[in-house]
Amino acid sequence: MKFYLTTPIYYVNDTPHIGHAYTTVVADVLARYHRLFGHEVKFLTGVDEHGQKVQSATVKHGLEPQAYVDSMAENFKAIWKELNIQYDFFIRTTDPFHKKAVQDCLQQLYDQGEIYSKDYEGLYCVSEEIFYTEKDLVNGKTPLGNEVVPLKEKSYFFRMGNYQQRLIDTIQKNPNLIRPEHRKNEILGFLRQPLHDLCISRPKARLSWGVEFPFDPDHVTYVWFDALLNYASAVGLKQKGKESEFQKWWHEAGAVHLIGKDILTPHAVYWPTMLMAIGLPLPKTIFAHGWWLTESGEKMSKSKGPVVKPLDMKAVVGVDPLRYFLTRDIALGNDAAFSPDLVVTRVNAELANNLGNLLSRTTNLVEKNFGKAPGLPATLSAESKELLDRTYELGSKVKAAILDMAPQTALQEIVDVLSHTNRYIGDRAPWKQVKDDLNAAGETLSVCLEVLKVAGILLSPVMPDKCRSIMETIGFNGGFDDLSKPLPAGTVVKKAEPLFPRVDWKSE
Ligand code: MSP
Repeated sequence: MKFYLTTPIYYVNDTPHIGHAYTTVVADVLARYHRLFGHEVKFLTGVDEHGQKVQSATVKHGLEPQAYVDSMAENFKAIWKELNIQYDFFIRTTDPFHKKAVQDCLQQLYDQGEIYSKDYEGLYCVSEEIFYTEKDLVNGKTPLGNEVVPLKEKSYFFRMGNYQQRLIDTIQKNPNLIRPEHRKNEILGFLRQPLHDLCISRPKARLSWGVEFPFDPDHVTYVWFDALLNYASAVGLKQKGKESEFQKWWHEAGAVHLIGKDILTPHAVYWPTMLMAIGLPLPKTIFAHGWWLTESGEKMSKSKGPVVKPLDMKAVVGVDPLRYFLTRDIALGNDAAFSPDLVVTRVNAELANNLGNLLSRTTNLVEKNFGKAPGLPATLSAESKELLDRTYELGSKVKAAILDMAPQTALQEIVDVLSHTNRYIGDRAPWKQVKDDLNAAGETLSVCLEVLKVAGILLSPVMPDKCRSIMETIGFNGGFDDLSKPLPAGTVVKKAEPLFPRVDWKSE
């Protein structure tokens, strides 16, 4: 199987925050799971460097646009490195191959008559850079209280409206195109109103930082038209010599776009209609995730959130546990609350107590009493067999959850088995068994080692470094296909260093 996964490309007017990190961490987790299952993966992320927001930020910082975006792109790459993000390609919309692909698409659509120009007349607010209509105004001013002036300017439009019915039919025929279901219904609801043509130009006099129209150098492309095309240009769209790459990823694999729910309309309406006009297949899935909210229920942003910023929690709990929290505490598609206390509580309950305790108890007892892995006995007690069967079934359960884009379900399954194992070890008390019945102790510890091995394999996409340590400790170096091959007797098992120390942290 081939898996082509994308994140949105982020505006570089801001340093990376929770919103950027969340989408990127979850995408990385999904990509790593697919690699673990042996799939061929292309994981794309990048930055959106054109448009008004970025131009305004360059002015604010007093830098030349290119110098500014160069340094901001580096910021994103640096944070992704710190968060252990393993992308396959990082696209920047200032990449020359991308700009050329955008221009080629514009030219193609213009030649096909899909793009036309007309004068656009409206009431323009210079400071907000937005057009208003009479009915939007409050006492002749914008809702923010700014002046408007009548303005007439030439604009280019994409005949998006022509594709309304085809888009509705396509969405209805492909239940996986827009996910989750409630987002699909939202878009179908939106499409009950007439779909207008899309203005895709900005006069250069107002916005110089963008991709120039090939047939009119006085205009640059609307930032979304430029940005959406990144998903196709990154895998070779309109590039000589890249035809087979494009065929493989765009036509055969089909893109899975992971995005935030606030950018669903451009992805689920503009983008598919653009692709229809260009004559390309649509993505396989557009999956909109929810938001991290503050404790009072507002969307978290740079200015709204707890005093300790989400990414600062890296220093408190470590990178892998933070990745775990971001994947575990929100069901992909829903909203959830973020607070430092929630992070600490989750990490202590499931990583320190559940997984960490099992690891240290098991490896301590094995090292002290057996020196090496005792090996699973040929016949098992009923409770050992029940737990072992459940452990080996985890592979297919986790895989099914991931293929369904539900990493939170995958983690829940793993946590349930770990809890079961902690009850099992508590009941069988191998620290007592070693005194009375060494064989029984060997059985208990061997089953626990199997659980640790399976958890180590299946949690590795979420916590790559921690799981590598688990594997080293128990002397296992296989992969997903070895999940139900018992660890051979005699495997060297080391006493584990505390991998998940309890976090002692209190909010002020
Ligand atoms: N440049 C466009 C995307 C173009 S894609 C062709 C853009 N960039 S952005 O920098 O604003 O991206 C923000 C992303 O972060 C969105 O996916 C958004 O949903 C996500 N988040 C921002 N705040 C968020 C939370 N509080 N919680 C989760 N994600 C949210 O939009």
